[in-house]
Amino acid sequence: MLRQNYENYTAENQYVWQLLFDRQMKQLPSMASAAYLEGIEAVGFVRDRIPNFDEVNKRLEKLTGWQIEVVKGLVPTKEFFELLNQKRFPSSTWLRTLAELDYLEEPDMFHDTFGHIPILSNQDFCNFLKGFSEIALEYLDNEWALKMISRLYWFTVEFGLIRDTENGLRIYGAGILSSSGESIHSLSDNPQHLPYVPEKIALTDYRIDIMQTNYFVIDSYKQLFDSLPEIEKVIRKYAAEPVLV
Ligand SMILES: [Fe+2]
Repeated sequence: MLRQNYENYTAENQYVWQLLFDRQMKQLPSMASAAYLEGIEAVGFVRDRIPNFDEVNKRLEKLTGWQIEVVKGLVPTKEFFELLNQKRFPSSTWLRTLAELDYLEEPDMFHDTFGHIPILSNQDFCNFLKGFSEIALEYLDNEWALKMISRLYWFTVEFGLIRDTENGLRIYGAGILSSSGESIHSLSDNPQHLPYVPEKIALTDYRIDIMQTNYFVIDSYKQLFDSLPEIEKVIRKYAAEPVLV
């Protein structure tokens, strides 16, 4: 089992965390989902210290039973969904340098933790993630199904927006929450804000090298969880007859 090796973080690492944390927390209180903002406090993230995974895991354990699992980098699909199925969220431990504050080839620990972990304090979201992994694990040998699954994951867990009852349009996707520019872009009038329809998402392609042009908006995390049977139906329907879009 890989470990975080907290003592290896340098003063620059701590400074980069603080810069990124401050920049996002300056704008996110009026932009991020209430559940996410509550989650930041619940999991104990603070500006002046890179999170210690052992401490975060103790808090998560009590909140929803989820855990951070240290991984080297991007995880193969099967292992990724097996981890989610065991209520373990994979996170790298390396942090971007000062020189690459806004441009990354692959997700670092700021994305993996600041972006993904706070919302794991929300039980409905966790239930969705676990149920989603169960569906994904059934289709590991079907390339077309996996493409739809990655789209559904992308447009929810990574780039999802929510219409918070009291606050209006808010962010919950980790790819947005860990990016200053995309946080602003996602809520602006430039992109399309579309209703959450699993079938539509399964058939919508995305690009990883630009800010998104489409965001799908949920009404609640319960809605995500409740949509699992529909997701399963959509995947089953198209897995047998690929549609090329
Ligand atoms: Fe991510």
